[in-house]
Amino acid sequence: MQRFLGKTILITGGAGGMGASHLRGYLAEGANVVIGDIRDDRGRALVAEAGDRAHYVHLDVTSAADWQNAVTETENRFGPISVLVNNAGILSRSAPIEQSDPENFRHVVDVNLTGPYLGIRAAVPSLRRAGGGVIINIASTSANVGTALIAAYVSSKWALRGLTRSAAMELGRDDIRVNSIHPGVVNTPLITEPLHPGAQPVSDYYSPDAFAIKRLAEPQDITRLLLFLSSDEASFVTGSEFVADGGMLLGPALAAGQTQNQS
Ligand SMILES: NC(=O)c1ccc[n+]([C@@H]2O[C@H](COP(=O)([O-])OP(=O)(O)OC[C@H]3O[C@@H](n4cnc5c(N)ncnc54)[C@H](O)[C@@H]3O)[C@@H](O)[C@H]2O)c1
Repeated sequence: MQRFLGKTILITGGAGGMGASHLRGYLAEGANVVIGDIRDDRGRALVAEAGDRAHYVHLDVTSAADWQNAVTETENRFGPISVLVNNAGILSRSAPIEQSDPENFRHVVDVNLTGPYLGIRAAVPSLRRAGGGVIINIASTSANVGTALIAAYVSSKWALRGLTRSAAMELGRDDIRVNSIHPGVVNTPLITEPLHPGAQPVSDYYSPDAFAIKRLAEPQDITRLLLFLSSDEASFVTGSEFVADGGMLLGPALAAGQTQNQS
């Protein structure tokens, strides 16, 4: 399929585990893709491997000036933006609220919530110039439940739902759809690598044994949903939230082979 032939896509956090998969997914369907990140070496290496329809820009999503520059550079390179993917995100340092660092809380909110806010603010004029488009905010199943020890992350992702809905209300008349994706546990460095020396990777806390679909998600599982939602196939979908978690939020699944008659 070539659902994005000639369209311009901007993805934040594009040098990360899911960002790299999203880059490849859009390129395979004919798009021109700009990835923004703060990891310049990794970002540049990814686009060098991807070819002429991929471009890297340094974009710290907490900086309004970086956003302005990223939108201008994207337009100059490929034309107005049709799809903005607010994918950049960080975890909070693991600690109970009373022992947590307020600076860390502020930083997590800055990246995970203020970042997408600044992004929408900066990119909307470009989406209008494109004649309409799509904004996808990458939230998390942490935006659907509470989770001990990572209150900053959870709070920022819950708030992203409010931003998504408000933006959808404001932008529908301009043919700009805004939705959020809520991945469960995805096999990327965010959860497989320790956040700081001595910390346990998040993946250690989540056994897929209890999920209805008994495995972690791979980035491509989320990319496929993203491509659908940002394509014309989802033309009447806005202000909505899409969980992709293998059934994690459903509650503990039955053990293999167990039936209702067995206790
Ligand atoms: N991996 C999971 O299990 C999981 C689950 C639910 C939601 N998510 C969300 O998915 C998104 C992508 O996560 P991932 O798993 O690919 O993580 P990742 O750590 O592999 O990638 C995140 C990327 O964001 C970049 N980034 C961090 N701060 C930034 C900033 N200030 N400006 C620009 N870029 C910045 C990082 O450099 C990195 O390349 C995040 O929003 C995350 O919260 C991940």
